[in-house]
Amino acid sequence: MNKMRIAKIFEFAGNGRRQCYGNGCDHRDQDLDARRLASSAAPSWYVLLRSKDLGRQPIGLSGRGENLVVWRGRSGRAIAMQRYCPHHGADLALGCIQDGELRCRFHGWRFDESGACVAIPGEMKIPSSAHRRLRHIEERYGLVWIWSGTGSPLFPMPTIPELDGTPTNAASHYYVHQYHHDIGSAPFSRMHENAVDTVHVSELHHVSLEAVNCTVLERPCWDVGDPRRPAYADVGAWFGNILEFELQQQHGVPRIANILGVPLGATRVIIDKWPSGSIIRTHSDGRHRHTLVYAESPYGSSQRSGTLYGISITPRYRGWMRDLISHLILTITNRWFLLQDLGVWRTLGSSYDGVLVKSDAPIMAYRRWYIGWVKATRHESELHAQIRSANTPP
Ligand code: FES
Ligand SMILES: [Fe+2]
Repeated sequence: MNKMRIAKIFEFAGNGRRQCYGNGCDHRDQDLDARRLASSAAPSWYVLLRSKDLGRQPIGLSGRGENLVVWRGRSGRAIAMQRYCPHHGADLALGCIQDGELRCRFHGWRFDESGACVAIPGEMKIPSSAHRRLRHIEERYGLVWIWSGTGSPLFPMPTIPELDGTPTNAASHYYVHQYHHDIGSAPFSRMHENAVDTVHVSELHHVSLEAVNCTVLERPCWDVGDPRRPAYADVGAWFGNILEFELQQQHGVPRIANILGVPLGATRVIIDKWPSGSIIRTHSDGRHRHTLVYAESPYGSSQRSGTLYGISITPRYRGWMRDLISHLILTITNRWFLLQDLGVWRTLGSSYDGVLVKSDAPIMAYRRWYIGWVKATRHESELHAQIRSANTPP
């Protein structure tokens, strides 16, 4: 029987007050309707789609209550704008791209990269209201990201210095593998709790751990000026924790890793989260061994679509063979764990109701932070929701 314990929990807010969680200790936010918060409720940066999926045809995507058409303009940059044509409401995703402009399939109105209608067949005058509003997107790391929830971003897009070529105190070269899984309408926020849910690791994933220390951080552990320090920490959009544990070496991945000269025994995992994603950096033997990025995408062919994107990044320190094998083992293991998680996540409801016990304390800390972010941005996001609803299918 694996022995697990939670050594210390710090309250995220850092107000010096210890929190009490679990049964008989109901500190769930009284003024908050938590029931609907477990799915993508937070204003944040989300993944819209993969860069390589956006070619010469416009793509229609739905999610978070909005409908978008995504396409590439004359300059090659990705554009996301309101999906339905201002003329008779045809789906612009049925159109085509001509000379870097999006042409509506129904009557041929044409739109440029700014969303402005620039040509109407047979008409000399273009009404000033004949434009589509653009959404704020960025294309990085092989993905198109979208800010969603308020009119303009409340924090800069999360960066991954390992993929930017930015020097850190780790290696400067990495093996990278990107993947994604369809998750349907499984609640994203419940998934992000995974990184603070220490108990499920031995039960669901069958990883033998002597002990897990989970520390919820009050501030990022990266120094100011370190490219790994999340800029979103400055506006309250960051949650961080550290997991420290000893992997039993006798079997499984630790044994194989040990044979390869990667001692995974005493392991330290530093996790930085924004409201819709995580960067998980694993260290052992004083070295950075792996970075795992998870980012959620509530966009797809319907409002109930959901995709989880993962990027597995392994530093290259020594001979390419051993590093590559380490990368393959870590990537395959992470994907295998993710599939095990997904099997359960798909059965979860989006409610925060549930009987909690002492070992759920880190999860409660995470939920408090997530709820706090949603509440803090509620006014702006409600205003934005009214604007979004103006472009619904006719
Ligand atoms: S509906 Fe698009 S041009 Fe008429
Ligand atoms: Fe898991």
